[in-house]
Amino acid sequence: MLKGSKVGLRARHEDDIPILRAELYDDVVNASRAEGRPWRPITPGSKDSRLVVDDSEQRLVPFSVVELDGGTLVGTATLWGIDNHNRSAHIGLGLLPSCRGKGYGTDVVAVLCHYGFVVRGLQRLQIETLSDNAAMLRSAERNGFVREGVLRSSAWVMGEFLDQVLLGLLAQEWKPASKG
Ligand SMILES: CC(C)(COP(=O)(O)OP(=O)(O)OC[C@H]1O[C@@H](n2cnc3c(N)ncnc32)[C@H](O)[C@@H]1OP(=O)(O)O)[C@@H](O)C(=O)NCCC(=O)NCCS
Repeated sequence: MLKGSKVGLRARHEDDIPILRAELYDDVVNASRAEGRPWRPITPGSKDSRLVVDDSEQRLVPFSVVELDGGTLVGTATLWGIDNHNRSAHIGLGLLPSCRGKGYGTDVVAVLCHYGFVVRGLQRLQIETLSDNAAMLRSAERNGFVREGVLRSSAWVMGEFLDQVLLGLLAQEWKPASKG
């Protein structure tokens, strides 16, 4: 398990799946804001890639996020679009509604940076998020990500086009916390 100061990132467990489906992906607004594709229900038992991990997929590393204190599941974190030639990847995360606003998101970004830069030897990490997602923007900026641009009207979300902010962090800019 990868450890931050508050959360750990570990493999997806079977028991995580019904919780993530009910609390993250069955919520149409949450799922529509967090994913760049239309919401559709996930059938129980299906091998949907948001829930069931395919370990042979080289460009995508999904984690379940747990509290270090007690091990309770609090969300998901993903390193995706891993490009070993350009040594870059994207990061994404989603916390269960009851687990937001407690500093976990900032800590998850820190742990994903450690995984990307130290474990995987990447040079650049990137985040795209809706321009009104203050908590995600702040979680990224607290870890040193800089705003590189606005992707105007790039996301169709619940009946309207929204802007996304593109943020990037280079390995040489990253300042790891004492744990990470
Ligand atoms: C985005 C998300 C991962 C952030 O994680 P979090 O644990 O809620 O964020 P934190 O508690 O670490 O807060 C980070 C910062 O944002 C601020 N913040 C938190 N919630 C906020 C809100 N609703 N509005 C404005 N600021 C907020 C915090 O005060 C903190 O700022 P500080 O460091 O100056 O104190 C989480 O809210 C979430 O899962 N949201 C839904 C899914 C999502 O949007 N995923 C991202 C898709 S790209």
